Amino acid sequence: MLSKWLSVSFFAPEKFTEETIESLKTELTDKAIIAASGGVDSTIAAVLASRAVGDNLLAIYVDTGYMRLNESEFVSSMLQDLGVKHKVIDASKQFYEGLQGVTDPEKKRKIIGELFIRVFEEEARKYGGKFLVQGTIAPDWIESGGGMRDTIKSHHNVGGLPEDMEMKLCEPIRELYKDEVRSLAEYLEVSVAHRQPFPGPGLAVRVMGEATPKRAEIVRQACHIVENELESAASDGKMELPWQYFAVLLPVKTVGVQGDVRAYSNTIAVRAVQSYDAMTAQALDIPHSVLRKISERITRELKSDVNRVVYDITDKPPGTIEWE
Ligand code: XMP
Repeated sequence: MLSKWLSVSFFAPEKFTEETIESLKTELTDKAIIAASGGVDSTIAAVLASRAVGDNLLAIYVDTGYMRLNESEFVSSMLQDLGVKHKVIDASKQFYEGLQGVTDPEKKRKIIGELFIRVFEEEARKYGGKFLVQGTIAPDWIESGGGMRDTIKSHHNVGGLPEDMEMKLCEPIRELYKDEVRSLAEYLEVSVAHRQPFPGPGLAVRVMGEATPKRAEIVRQACHIVENELESAASDGKMELPWQYFAVLLPVKTVGVQGDVRAYSNTIAVRAVQSYDAMTAQALDIPHSVLRKISERITRELKSDVNRVVYDITDKPPGTIEWE
């Protein structure tokens, strides 16, 4: 705890940037690829590595089919603006097939992790990449267990790595906590500095049970509504913007009425938390009017698929931020 406190107090983005770029120049002795997800962690890792080795780095963004609405277009244009060489791969078919019939959260994470690596390996072979750069940060590997630590959940960029991976792994920001990554992003003028985190396995861990394409689409639309409403409530000064906010599709159907007709349909849970470093989190007090608006929009815009919305008031611990 003391070392964490000291590292926050003394974290110097400028010094970290210079030293990391220098050490990446030594470490990355051959062509490298990076898993760019569009989140602040992998974007920072991409910027640092691309500043170290220039065109010898190729950023690969994989559309798994479990991404947020319009995410591929957003990430591609951001990387372009940052001058990072990149490629967008649509692998949604592979991921949907890989997760067919899978309901266990840990199995989902392992399958997604392995598919990710396979896609990268294929791209790396085409490109001639020998290194895989990743935006892993401290909470990712701490919570993935090992040594005396219990496995809470296998973060896809840690637990899912196959033992026979052909590339060498390079994790330039693995000692940093989220607040440090964000201050680094501000220093490097990266637009996603304050973007909310998004889990590596994506919407697959926000669909409880089997993450079919249809269920992924429901949660994608619901997440979009939650983001939209909370961001506009925050910009209207009705509340502070949460650390993380999203929707979860439950494997529970309930009875409702739509018009005059009985409906038996899905339930969406809304999650919004405040946190400092994702190690602990507090469920946020959202103004009731904002919650009602979210519920009204979800049940109207997704009316053929959702007839009930609930709000998750669990802190971490005992919950985790994501539901799987
Ligand atoms: P949990 O759910 O463990 O999440 O409280 C802590 C933070 O990590 C994000 N998260 C992930 N990030 N790979 C990631 O890069 C993953 O596999 C993963 N799983 C969860 C989560 O969204 C939260 O911000």
